[in-house]
Amino acid sequence: MIEHPWSVDKSKTVFGIDRNDLHFLDITDNGDLYIKLGDQRITLQDVIDTVKSMNGNQVGYTSSFTLRIPQLITYQIKKIRTTFDLAFKELAYSGEFIGIYPVKVNQRSDFVTAVLRSDFEYGLEAGTKAELQLIKAVTKHEKHRHIICNGAKDPEYLRLIQECLDDGYDIAISIESIHEAQLVTKYFKAENTNLVLRIKPYLSVEGHWSHSTGRDSKFGLSIHDLYNVVDLLKQTGFAGSVRTILGHAGSQITNIEAFTRFGRFMTKIYSELREMGLSRLDAIDFGGGLAIDYKSAYPPDLMLQYARNIVSGIKEQLKEDHNRQPEPNIMIESGRGVTALAALIVVQALEVRSVFPTGSGRYETESTLEKEREYLDRIDKATSLDHMVDIWNDFHEYFGGMTLAGLGFIFEKEMVIGNLERTVRSRLREMKLDSYHSDRLARSFWYPEHIVIGNFSVFNSIADYVLVQQHFPVIPTRDLQKHPQTTVRLVDITCDSDGEISNFYMQNTEKIWFSEDNRPLTMPGGKMGEGIPIGVLENIPSSYFILPLVGAYQDAIEMDHNLLGDLPDVELRLQEDNTWKISWITGAEPIENLLRDAGYADIDIDEDPYMSS
Ligand SMILES: Cc1ncc(COP(=O)(O)O)c(C=O)c1O
Repeated sequence: MIEHPWSVDKSKTVFGIDRNDLHFLDITDNGDLYIKLGDQRITLQDVIDTVKSMNGNQVGYTSSFTLRIPQLITYQIKKIRTTFDLAFKELAYSGEFIGIYPVKVNQRSDFVTAVLRSDFEYGLEAGTKAELQLIKAVTKHEKHRHIICNGAKDPEYLRLIQECLDDGYDIAISIESIHEAQLVTKYFKAENTNLVLRIKPYLSVEGHWSHSTGRDSKFGLSIHDLYNVVDLLKQTGFAGSVRTILGHAGSQITNIEAFTRFGRFMTKIYSELREMGLSRLDAIDFGGGLAIDYKSAYPPDLMLQYARNIVSGIKEQLKEDHNRQPEPNIMIESGRGVTALAALIVVQALEVRSVFPTGSGRYETESTLEKEREYLDRIDKATSLDHMVDIWNDFHEYFGGMTLAGLGFIFEKEMVIGNLERTVRSRLREMKLDSYHSDRLARSFWYPEHIVIGNFSVFNSIADYVLVQQHFPVIPTRDLQKHPQTTVRLVDITCDSDGEISNFYMQNTEKIWFSEDNRPLTMPGGKMGEGIPIGVLENIPSSYFILPLVGAYQDAIEMDHNLLGDLPDVELRLQEDNTWKISWITGAEPIENLLRDAGYADIDIDEDPYMSS
């Protein structure tokens, strides 16, 4: 079969560029990655050059940085609203859409103000009194915005809520326990209190955050508590204060069908509670959960399916209950879906290290030569994958392990293993297997033999990669017109072996596409693999990679492992005259701040901790 030459389009497929949530990226004919903003095409190289020319000599400049694009928040906010409008129209739904941004997902002021700028009606959610203080400050001239106060509440949090109510803010208080219901009925007046009953979503949803759903969820009222809370609210005259029920089914829910069940579940409760006397209840808040397509592997209309499923779940349930209740307003507290696109990390590659000796050396030990020939012969004659696995295990056992025979001998062994591994990969490619089912196999055969050192910290910039094994795409910014020469691991400069990214999602193509050194880049059916494809190994030092889709949660959970703090923040914006502009927001977090947090108040070093370049 003739293999077509490599093309930019193939790279787009391999990296999932220009699809779904990576729709704002594309590649020039010369193989440079670029950002699309309006009708502007801004290459990453242009961004990097501009940042360097503006800030190259400033304190806090490091070659790597976080690029913020708040206009992508506006894009997402508008998309969420128009998607629900479309679903309402398609399904003839009469309820209203109410968008709420949970500030915990990214509390940065450039992100929160971007949300507010994007939609005059959008509300905000607080999970703590500190977050409510933030919301109070940013909405002091926009008190029409709906604010939901979630999270554990102490008298101080409640006092702050009362203060906001007295100041004219539109606040709803969620109740998550009988204790909170007692506090609220004690401190507030029924006639001007807006309550939300947060209910445990009794359904199972798969994913990293599945423990936030179901009976064992940390959040919300258990069913027995719900009965008790409703009784208390009725007895104290607060039944008419309940306007909303809230259920949060977890984050990043890619099993879209779950939202139909969730829609039905919440609607059943809504109807029953209205029948139990909570007659002013008119909204269901479905919390977060809207997924981002980190793998560029889902259908392109994921958001529309999500909206449709919620709405159709509600309609189905109302119909089953003989349409006795009105269609509720729908609140959505999407956080990830709003912010993920708006930040990407731009990482400079400092150097490349190779696991095996490169080139061909001469073996001084005749037995090594003989043994290598023997294995090469067996590899040549292998006819099945199983056969190859046996040979692979054999030569690793024979040449692997510790030896006290000296450096020269270790060098020889490493050279032989490297050669044999390369020969196996080449034979596997010739064998034209359609797919490789075992993950362990794939890890052994194709695990990258090159390590790229990136000037960043996984723990600071994308902590979820280590905390919950969340996948983030990694894309080189140049040589994307070239047939990938090989694949690499991107490791950070922390002294922690977890500080590396090797995961790469192999996109679904009919036949496997290979790198020049015979590592699979795609896989029928799509599959998570290891090894980030790169165009030209030699060009990697001083080149850049981007890690897009990091705008949700990563700023809030960053860790200062090894005293490596925040990278500099840079903003990219399309201006009214349709030109783009780069602004330097902050430099990297100085060593001084990091030391102060660790209790060293008097060390005065105004330098950043990343590698200078
Ligand atoms: C109550 C509530 N609402 C909304 C969210 C945001 O979820 P997501 O980022 O998945 O949209 C969360 C996340 O934990 C949450 O707990």
